[in-house]
Amino acid sequence: MRIEIPREAERFGANHIYGVQKVYELDSGLRQDAPASENSVIQNLPYETLYEIERDMAIVVPIRDERLKLLEGVLFGIPHQCTVIIVSNSRRAPVDRFKMEQDAVETWSRFTQKQLLLVHQKDPFIARALAEAGYPYILDENDLVANGKAEGMIMATLLARILGKRYIGFIDADNYFPGAVYEYVHEYAAGFALSKSPYTMVRIAWHSKPKVVQSQLFFAKYGRTSVVTNRFLNQLISYYTGFETEVIRTGNAGEHAMTMELAMLLDYATGYAIEPYHYIDLLEKYGGVIESAHPEVMQHQVNVFQIESRNPHLHESKGEEHIDDMILSSLQVIYHSKICPEPIKREVLRELYRRGILSKGEEPAPPRIYPALLHVDLEAFRNALMRAPYGEQLETLAQRRGYRRRLPRPTVTPPEGDGSEQVATPA
Ligand code: GDP
Ligand code: CO
Repeated sequence: MRIEIPREAERFGANHIYGVQKVYELDSGLRQDAPASENSVIQNLPYETLYEIERDMAIVVPIRDERLKLLEGVLFGIPHQCTVIIVSNSRRAPVDRFKMEQDAVETWSRFTQKQLLLVHQKDPFIARALAEAGYPYILDENDLVANGKAEGMIMATLLARILGKRYIGFIDADNYFPGAVYEYVHEYAAGFALSKSPYTMVRIAWHSKPKVVQSQLFFAKYGRTSVVTNRFLNQLISYYTGFETEVIRTGNAGEHAMTMELAMLLDYATGYAIEPYHYIDLLEKYGGVIESAHPEVMQHQVNVFQIESRNPHLHESKGEEHIDDMILSSLQVIYHSKICPEPIKREVLRELYRRGILSKGEEPAPPRIYPALLHVDLEAFRNALMRAPYGEQLETLAQRRGYRRRLPRPTVTPPEGDGSEQVATPA
């Protein structure tokens, strides 16, 4: 992949948030094809570099009652070297959609020899394993994992962790383009290849989202929710740095990936707030405004890369009504952040009143936050899962990795900005 080096970086304490990077070539060939000298603003990441990272990557596909054709398309797009974890919260009755997914996935993994795990969110073994491992927070009143994409993602993160994966990436199951899925995975790997920190996140900024407007295809660049979320996140940064910024373009990026080190450290918000809360959590914990619970991380950088995909992003259209919900969830976590200053709080309220999402005088409810996975007893979690019907499969997936040669971390490093970066000076 040939990718532009970040043009700007916003520093906020230990966080380095890099500006959106464009991709110039989806595939730049093998190492042996690399020219002796390269244009200095473009980074060449040979196929092997991405491949080596992808071998250590789990791709999590959350799914709830999506059409099988869409799920299949997504699976077809995931490179072979990744381990796939599908977390399904699909109906079991009257039609057993989960069974249908199982059948489709089983056939496909037989054809492809893919390393793959499909689990149901309501699997009682997982719920018990979570309880035994000291992480009952995502369980509901029936002692099963609660509904929600966020809850499924958290559960999958722990599965990837016990499989010994070093990177975890998320891709929604309702994507229409296998080519886009393929591209996202390589872009995740590209971000990790560019990073020199063990605490790294890569978020996809879509180049465009096709829509039909007056019977013409229109390629929208900005989502209606993300425009609002990004504006407030950028304001929050500007408030502390004293410099206006537009660095954040991926406040609501569902397509994102993390190093396992970072995935275990983050707290998670529920619902649509999970993605914007990544930023809030990082700014709170490693921004230097309030004391960090993990001073050792402050010694490193926390890197956030935002990579612009070339494929258009087209997913299942689920109606317009949830845009307001998404805006409310996103602004809720900003409003209730410990570092959100009064002027921004007032502006958040104005925005919510203006849109009629809240009535005058109302405040957004505090978000529900799940604690980091750091203190989960992984041994207990793993042991409990060994009793599950897929216990042996887990063992095999974990072992397959163990047999592999340990590869050194890639050493490509991004530049230290170009002078346009600002250093946060917390009040
Ligand atoms: P949007 O793309 O933000 O509008 O949200 P979607 O409704 O498309 O959801 C994103 C992804 O999460 C899709 O692949 C859904 O099938 C999946 N999903 C939604 N709810 C759940 C859930 O409760 N559990 C799991 N595991 N996946 C879910
Ligand atoms: Co969707």
